[in-house]
Order: sequence, then C-alpha cells, then structure tokens
Amino acid sequence: MLFFSVVAIQGLPDGLHPTPPMGWTSWNTFFEENSEQKMISQADAIIELGLDKVGYNILTIDDFWQLPSRDNETGRMIPDPAKFPNGILSLSNYFHDRGLQIGIYSSAGRFTCSGNLPGSLSYEATDVEMLLEYEIDYFKYDNCYPRLDGSTNIAGGGVYIDWEKSAEHLPSIWQSPSEESRYSVMAEEIAKVKDQRNISLELCAWGFGNVETFGPAMAHLWRTSPDVADNWNSLLYNIDVNDENRYRQDGVQGPNSGWNYPDGLFVGKGGMTDAEYRTMFALWCLVKSPLMLGTDMTKMTRDSEAYKIITNPWLIAVNQDQLGVQGQCLKDCCSHGSVGGVLGASGCVHFHHSWQVWGGPLEGGSFVIVVVNRFEEEKQVSMNWNLDAKIPPGLYTVEDLWSGEVVDEALSGGEDWEGGAYKAILPAHDNLAFKLTPV
Ligand code: GAL
Repeated sequence: MLFFSVVAIQGLPDGLHPTPPMGWTSWNTFFEENSEQKMISQADAIIELGLDKVGYNILTIDDFWQLPSRDNETGRMIPDPAKFPNGILSLSNYFHDRGLQIGIYSSAGRFTCSGNLPGSLSYEATDVEMLLEYEIDYFKYDNCYPRLDGSTNIAGGGVYIDWEKSAEHLPSIWQSPSEESRYSVMAEEIAKVKDQRNISLELCAWGFGNVETFGPAMAHLWRTSPDVADNWNSLLYNIDVNDENRYRQDGVQGPNSGWNYPDGLFVGKGGMTDAEYRTMFALWCLVKSPLMLGTDMTKMTRDSEAYKIITNPWLIAVNQDQLGVQGQCLKDCCSHGSVGGVLGASGCVHFHHSWQVWGGPLEGGSFVIVVVNRFEEEKQVSMNWNLDAKIPPGLYTVEDLWSGEVVDEALSGGEDWEGGAYKAILPAHDNLAFKLTPV
C-alpha cells in the first residue's frame, strides 16, 4: 500500500522564501467581511505597532473580494465596488508605498469556497494577467469546487471527492480532478511571468491530493490541514496533522522546498486563553510554519499579552532559523499513527491527556524544545533531555524562549544516565520553550 510518495522533490529555484513567510490575513480576522477600508486600517495598525519591522509584512485579501460575475468582455474578475471602491491597484500602491506586500485569493475551481464567487479554473492565464495588473505579491489558491460545472459530491462541502484515490492514498484525500492537475496549470502561468513579477504561491490544498508530493516543485507554501478555528482542539488537531510523516520527508519542507502550513494564527482574537495562544505560537514557530496573523490589529496594544506573544524575538528567530528543519513531536505523540496520519481525537489516547515534547535541530548545532501540557490541569513535568527530547549526550546551555534568559546548564545523557530530569510545574494548556546550545 502506498501512503506517501518517496520521490526526490526539487523545490522552486526562485529562492523567494528561504524562511517561512510572515504576514496577516483577512480570513481569520474578518471572514467574508473584508474591504478596502479594513485592509488600510490593518496596514496602518501593523506599521504603527512596528509589526512590519518584526517580519509581518504580507497582508492578504482573502475570499469575498470579488463580484459574482466576471466581466463579459474581458473575462476578468471584478472587485466588489461596495467593498473596494478604488479598486485593488490603488490598495496595492498604498501597501507598496509603505513597504508592505499585498496578497489576494482565488480557488482552483469553478467557484471560490464562498460557493458563488468566480474561481480561476480555466481562467488561469486571465487571472495571472490580473495579478500583474494589480501588482500582487502573494497569491492564495484555494481548493473548492474542482469541477468546471461547479458540482460537488458532499452536500454543502464544495468538494468533489474521489473515494477510490482517497482510499489508496490515506491519510490524504483526493478530489477529481486532482489537486496536482489543477494547481499545476496556475503555477505554470505564474512561472511564465517570473521575469515581470515574483509572485509567492500558497496552495490552500488542506493536505489533499498528497500536496507534499508536488507542492515543493511549484509553490512556496501549502496548507497541510483543514481550516483552523479559534479554539484549543482545533489548534491541536491542525498541529498534529501537520506533523504527519508525509510532511516531514526529505525535500518536502525547508529553504529549498517551501513550507508546510497548518493555517493562520489567531493569537489575540479571544477564543483561547493566553496560555493556549502561547502554545499555538510556540508550536507554529517550532514547525517552521508561515506566521500569518488573524486578528484585528487595530484593537491590539503594545502592552497586551497577544502583542508580547507575536513579537517574541526568540521564538521568531526559531521560526526564521536558516536551517529550516520542521520540529516534530517526540514524546506522547498523536500524529504518528500506523498509516502515518493523525489518529483522531477518540483514537489517540494522548490527545487530551499528556504532556508532550516537541523538538528539532537549529542552525549551528542547537536544538529547540517545546513542552506542551495537553491536560486540563497543571502538571509536574519531569523530562530527561535525552530520552524525552532526543538531545544527544553532552553539556548545553538552556535558554528559556519566553524570557530570553539562560536558565540552566544541562547535561543530556543516554539510557543509563542518572543525572536527573528537568522539572517544572506547567499550567494547563501552556508550554515551556527552550533553546539548547552545546557548551
Ligand atoms: C477555505 C480556506 C480558508 C478561506 C476560505 C474562504 O477553503 O481554507 O482559509 O480561504 O476557504 O472561503
């Protein structure tokens, strides 16, 4: 049985995102209620808060920016004049004048996921002309309504699932026509205009069609999971899915390939506690996910916990580490099921009941470790750096990535080592984050 392909994948040669892209998206913030005025206010707030200087510089207009019909004569999509009265180019100029980049959205389908707004299937060349005309920097390409007649075989789902292929390729779901066949047409059109404009391409594939087998060759980032929601279970589900074996094969992810993306951040939006948002941010940084903010930046203040979280320089440095290796779950994982996929909330005995260790290598021989308390109550963590966190034997400085302080010097030892464990009390749903550097 085939669960993931082992072909050697060559990433895009354009080197556009040697580290994960960072920005803000209208979807998690406003859903269908986007507009020129809102985009401008968000851009202003991001600059006012200095977030562009930290790296958050791509602002994307998601679904619901366009009218239901294309222009009869040109075939072009038309921005909704009630929402974008001055058109997209003027917004694009506003962003570029301020050193920001602009993203826009469509779907590799008859409609976008809105269900009635035009997608780009069979209009790929026309829509890339539009991207050029609007001076777009970043294009999010969704996966709804894959058939030209707009049909779907899941009631209200906007998808047309190929059951046979999906069964062959578990845990990935496949549609008909396939993700690769539809995405590659758009990617080729974007590649054709490379000499005129570098456009970053996000495949919003939700992990369908084994996106890990073709994403790196044609795009800069690809969604590995369903939409994340502003709650704890959704956060856990998406980060577990993103940790499936298929996404961590050689060549799938990294500076020469592109980035696995478990969807945007909600930090500050209000559906989770500060502890949960800290955990979301630490894990997103550890797995080298693109960092796309999804909250109303006009409401954020510099003294808020959310601001401290999203500007944490030590975790952002982990995310932007030049080595670009995706950190993974190392202890009590829910993500390494027998089919290389997530076992699901009921199937995973650890899903809500364990403190986990996540980690991975960083440039220069260091390691990042994030300990997550998935329990509903505080826990005593007692961690052996070698057995639980897979740190090779040796002496290390331990830097706390929430304070930036060196808190310890630790020895990591092998099986017979009796040097003791790292102990801490960890509140429910919170995390500890460390960088270990060899002394
Ligand atoms: C979903 C996509 C979301 C958002 C939405 C818009 O398919 O995963 O991120 O873009 O469509 O309708």
